[in-house]
Amino acid sequence: MINIAIDGPAAAGKSTIAKRVATNLGYKYLDTGAMYRAITLFFHENSDTDLNKLAELIDIEFSQEGKLFLNDKDVTDKIRESHITKNVSQVASLREVREFLVDLQRKIASKKGYVLDGRDIGSVVLPDAELKVFMTASPEVRAKRRLIEEHSRGNMIELSTLIDEIIERDTSDMTRDISPLIQADDAVLVSTDELSIDEVTNEIVELANKKV
Ligand code: C5P
Repeated sequence: MINIAIDGPAAAGKSTIAKRVATNLGYKYLDTGAMYRAITLFFHENSDTDLNKLAELIDIEFSQEGKLFLNDKDVTDKIRESHITKNVSQVASLREVREFLVDLQRKIASKKGYVLDGRDIGSVVLPDAELKVFMTASPEVRAKRRLIEEHSRGNMIELSTLIDEIIERDTSDMTRDISPLIQADDAVLVSTDELSIDEVTNEIVELANKKV
């Protein structure tokens, strides 16, 4: 078994594709963005958190069905709320937060057979991942996909607001000092603008099958 790193900007379709690739190959899926969101929620609820004690204070676990538990509480829906989305990039730029999560992600993936999606998987978390994909799409396409998701959750946000939010989050993720979002030298670039979910999934599964 190998590990597969899928990085890229916000709402490029990474999690949808990563889950499908994992199912197809019989691998496990690790949503690293959800982990940054969980820490953002923890900080929101515990404003005086000592950044040097994250490992003692925070326990993050995924259930078999992909639900996220923060200190034994199911926060799967809460971490998608818009105030978390707005603040997550700022939290993700903190050195202590990144060190804590990168360490945890490496431990989980050391067993192999994982598809991880995020921003720094191929460049920092698993520079030796056997397959690295950098997934992109235009901001308009990404915002339209996110609009459908948000509306299905009852959040009737405007498309233009989502485009602004996506561009702002990408800029912040690409320009931060520690592990900014970049395409690793050895990552395969996949642009999903013109491709269906099945086409992208099949392309990555084919690439993975060549590596095992
Ligand atoms: O993937 P998602 O959009 O849920 O990620 C939320 C945020 O978490 C990103 O905008 C980014 O700031 C941060 N993140 C990160 N490194 C990762 C995954 C996510 O900095 N590996």
